[in-house]
Amino acid sequence: MPPERTRILIIGAGPAGLLLSTLLHRSGVDHVVVESRSRSEIAHTHRAGILEAGSVSTLVDLGLTRVIEEGDRHDGIDMRFDGRMHRIDFDGLVGRSVWLYPQTDVFVDLADRCEADGADIRWEHRVTEVLDAESDLPGARVEGPDGAEYEVRADLVVGADGSHSIVRHGFPEQMRRTWVHEYPYAWFGVIVEAPRSAPELVYTESEHGFALVSQRTPTLQRLYFQCDPDEDAAEWDDARIWHELQRRVAGPDGFVLQEGPVQERTVLRFRSSVVEPMRLGRVVLVGDAAHTVPPTGAKGLNLAIGDVVVLHELLEEWLRTPDDTLLDEYGRRAGRRIWRAQHFSAWMSRMLHSTPDEDGFERRRRLAELHMLVDSEAGRRYLAEGYTGWVDPA
Ligand code: PHB
Repeated sequence: MPPERTRILIIGAGPAGLLLSTLLHRSGVDHVVVESRSRSEIAHTHRAGILEAGSVSTLVDLGLTRVIEEGDRHDGIDMRFDGRMHRIDFDGLVGRSVWLYPQTDVFVDLADRCEADGADIRWEHRVTEVLDAESDLPGARVEGPDGAEYEVRADLVVGADGSHSIVRHGFPEQMRRTWVHEYPYAWFGVIVEAPRSAPELVYTESEHGFALVSQRTPTLQRLYFQCDPDEDAAEWDDARIWHELQRRVAGPDGFVLQEGPVQERTVLRFRSSVVEPMRLGRVVLVGDAAHTVPPTGAKGLNLAIGDVVVLHELLEEWLRTPDDTLLDEYGRRAGRRIWRAQHFSAWMSRMLHSTPDEDGFERRRRLAELHMLVDSEAGRRYLAEGYTGWVDPA
């Protein structure tokens, strides 16, 4: 069979790939999206839930307004330590808010939109090889659900295929550099049937380790607590989970964490990574395929959205005049936000988690850092700017 031909081949139909498809559809650019998983598998994978103001504007500008109709606007967060709340008032400090709207909902909204647009999205089609990245006609070899293989050729291939990216692995080792940082802790994440315990997110430091109180619906809550990266979630029954969460959030202010049956439990590993460069010839990477962050700063999905917005802006020009220096500009512009988010996520993580070998000095130092942060308006503003998203990382 002769290869199929399209202008942009997008590999991966997570939020990054589908957002690019939506933007290209609006610009009238022919494209194909290939995804190895089924739509329902992606829709049922729990991910983080915080959208920066800029990410919300991107969705709303595309007419995807469910986020503001059904999502919850959060004008701040609580930093909890010494058993007390310390509120960071984002709205008052920087005039911006964030939205609690799970990534699975972002995915469903984008998938519905792409299907309504008539986009060519091929679920359960697996890329086995990226072809001729450095030519003018790169492409991919794809295996359909029936096992039949075919080839798609395009002007540009976009790797939006997540942290285990096949596309990134196609970049020869000597052509790329990966900056990686591992952490000696992970998060134990649970979905519980219980009423809300707090109106906003509560990031908690305690002598027993970190905990995060987040929300989903009036009857389902999302909670996390720091654990060992090799922890086996199956070994934790409900009583043990609640004991661990309760002792971390306990304090003299009498904060009450509402309990209920645990529906789901998973261990989320922490990893910071950045691949440079983000393009090789006519192949570019977006989102988790190019970088990952620990979940503490809630930056992962926001970075993916930021990458796609920058790439799409440059592609509009590149598709008219294919000057490849425009593609280099993508890495430069996206990179500024990516490294800020790397710093922010690593900083929040280190400030709030204990390490297995932490001594008394280090914990006291972390507590001093937390006090300095919340006691100073400059400190609170720094946190608010980072959490709500940098408006224009110059
Ligand atoms: C979540 O609600 O899943 C969530 C919120 C904030 C984070 C990470 C995860 O930093």
